[in-house]
Amino acid sequence: MMIRYTAGALLFLALSILTVVYGRHDFIKLPSDARRFFGSAATASNAGADDDSVGTRWAVLLAGSSGYWNYRHQADVCHAYQILKRGGLKDENIIVFMYDDIAYNEENPRPGVIINNPHGEDVYHGVPKDYVGYDVTAHNFFAVLLGNRTALTGGSGKVVDSGPNDHIFIYYTDHGGPGVLGMPTSPYIYANDLINVLKKKHASGTYKSLVFYLEACESGSIFEGLLPEGLNIYATTASNAEESSWGTYCPGEYPSPPPEYETCLGDLYSVAWMEDSDIHNRRTESLRQQYQLVKKRTANDNSYMGSHVMQYGDLNLSVESLFMYMGTDPANDNYTFVDDNSLRPSSKAVNQRDADLLHFWHKFRKAPEGSARKFKAQQQLTEAMAHRTHIDNSFKLIGKLLFGIEKGAEVLMSVRPAGHPVVDDWDCLKSLVRTFETHCGSLSQYGMKHMRSIANICNAGVKREQMAEASAQACSSFPSNSWSSLHGGFSA
Ligand SMILES: *[C@@H]1O[C@H](CO)[C@@H](O)[C@H](O)[C@H]1NC(C)=O
Ligand SMILES: *[C@@H]1O[C@H](CO)[C@@H](O)[C@H](O)[C@H]1NC(C)=O
Ligand SMILES: *[C@@H]1O[C@H](CO)[C@@H](O)[C@H](O)[C@H]1NC(C)=O
Repeated sequence: MMIRYTAGALLFLALSILTVVYGRHDFIKLPSDARRFFGSAATASNAGADDDSVGTRWAVLLAGSSGYWNYRHQADVCHAYQILKRGGLKDENIIVFMYDDIAYNEENPRPGVIINNPHGEDVYHGVPKDYVGYDVTAHNFFAVLLGNRTALTGGSGKVVDSGPNDHIFIYYTDHGGPGVLGMPTSPYIYANDLINVLKKKHASGTYKSLVFYLEACESGSIFEGLLPEGLNIYATTASNAEESSWGTYCPGEYPSPPPEYETCLGDLYSVAWMEDSDIHNRRTESLRQQYQLVKKRTANDNSYMGSHVMQYGDLNLSVESLFMYMGTDPANDNYTFVDDNSLRPSSKAVNQRDADLLHFWHKFRKAPEGSARKFKAQQQLTEAMAHRTHIDNSFKLIGKLLFGIEKGAEVLMSVRPAGHPVVDDWDCLKSLVRTFETHCGSLSQYGMKHMRSIANICNAGVKREQMAEASAQACSSFPSNSWSSLHGGFSA
């Protein structure tokens, strides 16, 4: 009885959250990258100038999450590995970061198998376990990029030991927030630290050019106003600096995963570039052609279930072929380039930040009445929602305490114009994240969306002591459930 009653209440709550998210008519805005329009007449035809005789291809693949409800990020990374492997890259040159708690997770209906598409084959086999579990850290990621073995803690010891003629491909997928990328361990990756590592790598003269594909919410904020030209880096991101990115192949959506899956299988931008790379002749397709295809598919017919794919850095690098970074699968040699988005119906997608609720909901819905599983799912859903409410309300209150009842929300929500980083003083951002978390508990993957609020608090010149006082007042009781506990350590 109790369970049945709560089920109805939970469904109502879950639905009202989804309506809040979807019902905002948050239709995607005009591309703010119009000013970056790339006017060069260069086409894929001069990508034929690729020279395979010099240089090595390196790749670093990173899934920033853990937990079965985040299945899709590790599925993305495994799929990327298979593309590069079939493209001819060697295992010694592909470095994989993944928490590795999915394939043999008790929730996984196909033990030892990970799929990234409803009809997809296993992408888990053969994936090197270079950095797994607690070795998936921002620190190791930076050490790997810089080729600094002595800085590593744990892991296989593989690093990007590249030379001046080499090409490097980096692919990251996970949750994020303004100026920050999630990690399964603490602390998170902050944009300024990542950019500094890229600058250092460039200064060491150990690559010819580098391509960075990035999927996360607000992923544009990692490069916006931060990645200079002239580093021979070309980056594309799943979203601009102020919108979320989207999970896809989610239960109850279209296209849907096989019925036994209660989790999303992929992410919209990620499967867009990978399903394109899977079938095309990568010798004749340029980075720019892929960017345009991915941008179109990820916009999802300009529905609110889509985001703006952006490009940053040295845009002239995009005339190069995918082959320079990903190699090519000989099986696709006869495939002539076509824009096959036109054949593809738009898909239903789920906001990155709601995919966990969706998982708990489907788990709850399908579990037998009165079972321990049903109870557990209910608890997970309730705790996740309670955490969201707690974090959202705490920020609302802190805003009012710092800037007044009227101006609080306005200051916290304000967005800087394109071309500007979210914050100027990154040490302030990190310090205020710690201050908040000391009093209010972990931000966690959902709470990362409030990075902009903390950035704006720094931009307004608020000092740590003021933030501490406001946080203490806003969070009089310290939350104790799994989403807000501090045993994971600080995010900064
Ligand atoms: C490599 O990392 C170690 C330890 O963090 C540091 O002392 C050293 O300076 C780094 N080496 C280079 C070449 O950056
Ligand atoms: C891109 O432009 C920079 C200078 O702006 C130049 O050094 C580099 O060689 C160019 N790269 C390509 C692939 O055209
Ligand atoms: C591509 O076409 C050529 C010529 O028709 C043929 O010999 C070759 O086997 C084809 N390659 C593939 C991978 O299908």
